[in-house]
Amino acid sequence: MDLTNVDKAALAQQLRKPEGSMGKEVGKAMELYNGKAISFTLESLHIQPRDHVLEIGFGPGEGIAQAVQLTPQGYVAGIDHSPVMLTMAGERNHRAIMQEHVELTLGSADKLPYEDASFDKIFSVNVFHFWTDPARELAECRRVLKPGGSIAFFLTHPSSWLPGLRDTGVFIAREAEDIEKLLLAAGFGNVETHTTKTEPDGKGFVVVGRG
Ligand SMILES: C[S@@+](CC[C@H](N)C(=O)[O-])C[C@H]1O[C@@H](n2cnc3c(N)ncnc32)[C@H](O)[C@@H]1O
Repeated sequence: MDLTNVDKAALAQQLRKPEGSMGKEVGKAMELYNGKAISFTLESLHIQPRDHVLEIGFGPGEGIAQAVQLTPQGYVAGIDHSPVMLTMAGERNHRAIMQEHVELTLGSADKLPYEDASFDKIFSVNVFHFWTDPARELAECRRVLKPGGSIAFFLTHPSSWLPGLRDTGVFIAREAEDIEKLLLAAGFGNVETHTTKTEPDGKGFVVVGRG
């Protein structure tokens, strides 16, 4: 799917919550563009083989697949509110799900269905910009992260968004400094930002914090 020719209001909604056949096409486009951003995010977390890892907003499931490779003796959970993405990511990670290495759940970031202190690492790629008032989501992340665990939020920089997406009002344009402040306000420590290039020729950043 050539995302430059698609109606931007419809595309923004599909990126926020993929639905139907268009949602599947948008999911395939995410697979094409987000692999490097996901690797960059996971590198920033220094994942260990026995870690329990959570991805919020797993989309077509590339982040889950990469986290599986890094946790041969660990466990990977994922949550996404799109049934279409649950199906795509489930197919992509079928074997790891059968081996009980992975568990994918339909649900929302503002009500995480996990026990307190369940995870060593939490990550999310291009999801935070949909959260209008992220205090609730961040409180949930803090609750399910083990004390001393790490969290990483990757975002494509607003200057690299497809033309027209910003005007839809679906995305909230935030700088890394804004995300850092929100993490500090939510009680995370050791907050820092790393920047990188994104596909095809944009820029992005990951904000990392400690629970
Ligand atoms: C732009 S896509 C990114 C997907 C994937 N992280 C990637 O990089 O390819 C955003 C994903 O987050 C999910 N999402 C957005 N807001 C969410 C929320 N509040 N709770 C759970 N999932 C959410 C959407 O359904 C979608 O699959």
